[in-house]
Amino acid sequence: MKVLHDLHIEPGRLQKQLRELGEFGRNERGGLDRTTFTPAELAARDWLKNQLRELGLDVRVDAAANIWARREGADPALPVIAFGSHIDTVPNGGLYDGALGVLIALEVMRVLDEQGVRTRHPLELVSFSAEEPNPFGLSTFGSRSVAGRLKREQIEGVRDDKGRPLDVALREAGGDPERLEQARRQPHELAAFLEVHIEQGKRLLKRDIPVGIVTAITGIYREEVTVYGQANHAGTTLMNDRQDALMAASEMMLAFESVCRDHPSDEVVGTVGKIANYPNAANIIPEKVVFHLEARGKSQGEIRQVIDAWQGRLEAIEQMRNCRVERRVVLDQAPESMDPDIVDLCTEKARALGYESFHLGSMAGHDATHMSSLTRAGMLFVPSIDGKSHCPEEESRIEDIEKAANVLLNAIVSLDEMLDRMLD
Ligand code: HGY
Ligand code: MN
Ligand code: MN
Repeated sequence: MKVLHDLHIEPGRLQKQLRELGEFGRNERGGLDRTTFTPAELAARDWLKNQLRELGLDVRVDAAANIWARREGADPALPVIAFGSHIDTVPNGGLYDGALGVLIALEVMRVLDEQGVRTRHPLELVSFSAEEPNPFGLSTFGSRSVAGRLKREQIEGVRDDKGRPLDVALREAGGDPERLEQARRQPHELAAFLEVHIEQGKRLLKRDIPVGIVTAITGIYREEVTVYGQANHAGTTLMNDRQDALMAASEMMLAFESVCRDHPSDEVVGTVGKIANYPNAANIIPEKVVFHLEARGKSQGEIRQVIDAWQGRLEAIEQMRNCRVERRVVLDQAPESMDPDIVDLCTEKARALGYESFHLGSMAGHDATHMSSLTRAGMLFVPSIDGKSHCPEEESRIEDIEKAANVLLNAIVSLDEMLDRMLD
């Protein structure tokens, strides 16, 4: 159907829902502990499914425990326009990362109902499972399964750091680990995927621009590095006789920081955010350290350059410290471009609504990375106050959220009208 005027979401209602969902997993520091497949996250899933059912949407949980909610189109044979994000959080995370995209999608569905808009294409809201890194070591779990990039054999026998099997956790969330491949969707089933997300940086804020339109998503590479030394007495072992795994690991981490700093591109970043020291006792020289090292960049070549440079420094540290290192690649996700037609359409929609917009690359990873292997994918960013994210202070202004949501809403309606003409 042809919609002659621009549609608008209701910001007050969206804000109320952000607060409601923000109660699940709330901790005493004001942050959210809603790691995937925890009781708090399962409760948030139930809340979301109820909201979706109340709207009369057809709710389905797939084998990867992704939640899909379908609004039938006038022509159900047409491929789906999908939109959404994720509701799991990092430890002590904020209210907006992921949740914003899912709740905006819900608000879009509400407005379409209220305005009596019947699209030709079926619309599906999606809330992806386990977007964030999690104790099972599988980030973007849901969207990778949908894209056919995660196979049953890769999750078989996987347990979290407390020994809980992923199969059990996934079943509790409504998934079906034995049939993980059934979560896969085929390119012909999908017409487009759109995701609104907080920017998680300061580029929009610095320019005082409310709407970000994402042109590409960073590549992410992660390794688990284990350094083996020799446990010994902290008092009786002379400094020259030590094989201290923690000191060796420290030098390796500092070497990694220095190769990332030295790289000419300021979009190359490196982090060691997770570390375990064994046996972790004040009077024992550490015998083993396990850390996760992550590099991001706008090309796989750049990522490779810092990893190679770091590798070049490892041997000398091993020799000097008399320690041994073992490495395991946990993630090697290529950078992805967003669909140029969707970028243009969103730019045009923002302009028509009277909003300034800015094109930017995403240095955070997103489910849209994997969805872009299946269909035309696009993302909109909302400015983050102080650029803060992955912390309780994470916040975005409702005036800015409203604008990105309006761009999404009107972009979906236009895609529905134009898709088969404008693209392919
Ligand atoms: O880690 C990331 O980039 C994202 O927030 N999942
Ligand atoms: Mn995140
Ligand atoms: Mn996110």
